[in-house]
Formats: sequence, structure tokens, C-alpha cells
Amino acid sequence: MERLLVIGHRGAAGLAPENTLPGFGCAVGHGVDGVELDVRVAGTEVVVIHDDRVDRTTNGTGLVSELSFDELRRLDAGGGEPIPTLGEVLDAVPAHIMVNIELKGPGTAGAVAGLVRNRSTGPTHPDMPTLLVSSFDHRELRRFHELRPRIACAPLAGRWSDCLEAAARAVDAWSVNLAHRAATPANVAAVRSWGCRCLAYTVNDPRRARMLFASGVTGVFTDYPDRFVGEPASRFSSSASSRCSS
Ligand code: G3P
Ligand code: CA
Repeated sequence: MERLLVIGHRGAAGLAPENTLPGFGCAVGHGVDGVELDVRVAGTEVVVIHDDRVDRTTNGTGLVSELSFDELRRLDAGGGEPIPTLGEVLDAVPAHIMVNIELKGPGTAGAVAGLVRNRSTGPTHPDMPTLLVSSFDHRELRRFHELRPRIACAPLAGRWSDCLEAAARAVDAWSVNLAHRAATPANVAAVRSWGCRCLAYTVNDPRRARMLFASGVTGVFTDYPDRFVGEPASRFSSSASSRCSS
């Protein structure tokens, strides 16, 4: 890999309300290679929200699973923005930007498999899929892989585990996505030996990103894509040019 891939975490969670359309636009405006988002099922819809409750990120209260889609859509997810649907985000993000869909809740594999389609044009990076589906729930991820075997998958892990190799092989993983503290040089080398890339979350310090890249990490998820602006050689600029309002 010639350069580090930069992926906006929940859009650009440090710069704009997380998992909202303006947040994804903010990340794209800062030149990310990809955006990451979290999905849950709401009735017959797939909505983009991280927590199982709406309390932290909206002006509402309660479990996502106990609210109707209409009730969820009336909530303010920040700056007057509604909780977006997955379809809305896929339509809004330019086709050359990778979208990493993280399956958060039960039933997401089937719902997302029914919704995603191959995006029409290729990525700007020669070695990056247009869609990447990931999950901490490796069984849910396997269900997704069985339904859509041609879409790239990535098991997620907050800690290193001996089960990770099997989880990666079961979905023919494009990458294994690790908490950056678990992305030690030895663990990254192991992941690479399985034929997978390693992506690390959540990396907001460009110096830390530089170390990870040196040990073989392919890309990082960041809340602050503005800290990573620039061309490949200056990927690690620490001076933000402009920020998005939150
Ligand atoms: O996919 C990387 C990262 O988003 C996983 O953790 O809790 O931010 O969804 P979390
Ligand atoms: Ca996530």
C-alpha cells in the first residue's frame, strides 16, 4: 500500500454531528478515501445511528428498536438534521468514496443485504472496495457474507483474539478492523499473513497514524479528517485548513 487510507469515523464525528448527512459531506469535503457509519434496523428501514438508544445523539429518548421509523425521523440528530437512512447516505456519498457499513444490531445482515447494490464507478484508490461491511458480531457478518459474497467484509475487534483468524477466513475478509491499541506490529503482521489488510480505529493523532502505517496498517478511522488533509506525501499534516460546523 503506497499511502494511508483515511476513513471518516461516523462521518466526521469530531467536526459535525455524527452519522448525519452533513457529517458525511464534511468528511468528503476534507478528502477522505472512505466514510464509516453504523446501522440498525427500524421497522422495514435501515437507519444510520450508533447507539441502541437515541438519547446521546438526538433530542429523543428510548431504544431504537422500540421506536417506529416515523418517530425516529422526527428526532433531531444535530443541527436540525434527521437520522438518515442507509439509502440516503449511499445516494449522497460520491461513488468514488468507500462506504464502510458497520452492522450494529440484530437483523442488520439481511436488511443491508437487501438494500446495498454495487456502486457504479470504481474507487480512486486501486486497492479499495466501494463498499465494506463490518461488524463486531461475527455471526451477523457471516450471515451477510452468505447473502452477498461479492461485497467486501471486515470483522471488527476491540481486543486481539485467537478467534479472529477464523472470523476473517469465514467471510473472505478484505480487512480486519482493530482498535488501534490492539494493532501492535505483531498483530498487524498476523493479519497481513492471512491475506487481509488491517484498518485501525479511532485514530485522531496523525503521529499515531504514522506509526501504525509504518507497522503495516492500511488505513485509519478518524473523527478529524481535517487533520489528515493533503496529498499522499503530506498525509500527516497536523494543521487543519478548515473545519465543518457542528
Ligand atoms: O468501525 C470502527 C469503529 O466505528 C468501531 O467502533 O464503537 O465507534 O462503532 P464504534
Ligand atoms: Ca462504528
